[in-house]
Amino acid sequence: MFSERMKKLTPYIPGEQPQDRKYLKLNTNENPYPPSPWIKTFLKSFDIEKLRLYPDPLFQNLRAKIAQGCGVQSENVFISNGSDEALSFSFYAFFDSCQGELLFPEFTYSFYPVYCDFYGIKYEKIPLRDDFRIDIEAFLTKKDSCGIIFPNPNAPTGICLSIKSLIHLLDNYSQDRVIIIDEAYVDFGGESAVSLIDRYRNLLIIKTFSKSMSLAGLRLGFAIGSKELIQALFTVKDSFNSYPAGMLAQLIGAIAISDTAYYQSITEKIIQTRDYFYSELKRLGWNVLPSKANFIFAEKKGTPGEEIYLRLKARGILVRHFNVQGINNFVRITIGTKKEMDLFLDEVEKIF
Ligand SMILES: Cc1ncc(COP(=O)(O)O)c(C=O)c1O
Repeated sequence: MFSERMKKLTPYIPGEQPQDRKYLKLNTNENPYPPSPWIKTFLKSFDIEKLRLYPDPLFQNLRAKIAQGCGVQSENVFISNGSDEALSFSFYAFFDSCQGELLFPEFTYSFYPVYCDFYGIKYEKIPLRDDFRIDIEAFLTKKDSCGIIFPNPNAPTGICLSIKSLIHLLDNYSQDRVIIIDEAYVDFGGESAVSLIDRYRNLLIIKTFSKSMSLAGLRLGFAIGSKELIQALFTVKDSFNSYPAGMLAQLIGAIAISDTAYYQSITEKIIQTRDYFYSELKRLGWNVLPSKANFIFAEKKGTPGEEIYLRLKARGILVRHFNVQGINNFVRITIGTKKEMDLFLDEVEKIF
């Protein structure tokens, strides 16, 4: 009844979305503020008759809006059902096990090895430096790899590489192998590499509406790269599902991307709360990594990460713990509102 392929799969485990009680949810890097108010106004007057028709398989309006916002052409933009799907299509389109291993950091987004196994791509994990930074030089010593992927800022560490480091990597790596920068969290203080796509035809940037745009429930992501890379993603999409982004998702995405003032204001609040929370946790004696994302990766020396996670959960606070050697003393804490983070800090002071 089941394929051999399916039986060998080890799926990605998403963060908990428990329905049993109300938690303070600081475990999946969701945005604590609502999406743009323009979306509410739009939905109130949306004519549902329009849903009779299939959505635009070329996403033309949304791509034009994104292109305008990012300073690229529509032909440089691809749309997906969440950025996870853009990642999945990219693994299929650009990485091939017969060309050597795909490289990514040892501690990073745990969906990458899942896609590798799914598509039969060999991979190698490159250790982080002692300070948990991505080690660009170590990537460059691997001459026969089939490509590189990492998030910037990295997840779950939150540490960001400078554009200068990315240029160094791009300049010294084969221009015939794709480098993917997953910019899921870049809006929270990192510097986007989008402006580099004209210079490097092998650079693909993946972005999402889930984090800074507060639309995780909508499932919308996008990729930006040279026309040839984007064309390859369309080829994969049209061999799998012509309509990954529904009509409402495309319309709402186009509205969200236009409301820059609103999104700047909520992003600024999250950054301020993160920097405040970082100092407070340090004051309480935690070891906290410097973050440019909407989460903090931190450890309380002497207390295993799993214990922190369980004790907080018992008090109605969810954080993310990874049972992985090397980072299992850490927990990843999403930045909520200032009030939520104060509540977290109060509980932490009581528990530990
Ligand atoms: C680094 C990274 N990339 C991509 C994603 C996928 O986000 P989405 O599929 O919601 O766009 C996540 C989700 O948490 C992430 O942490």
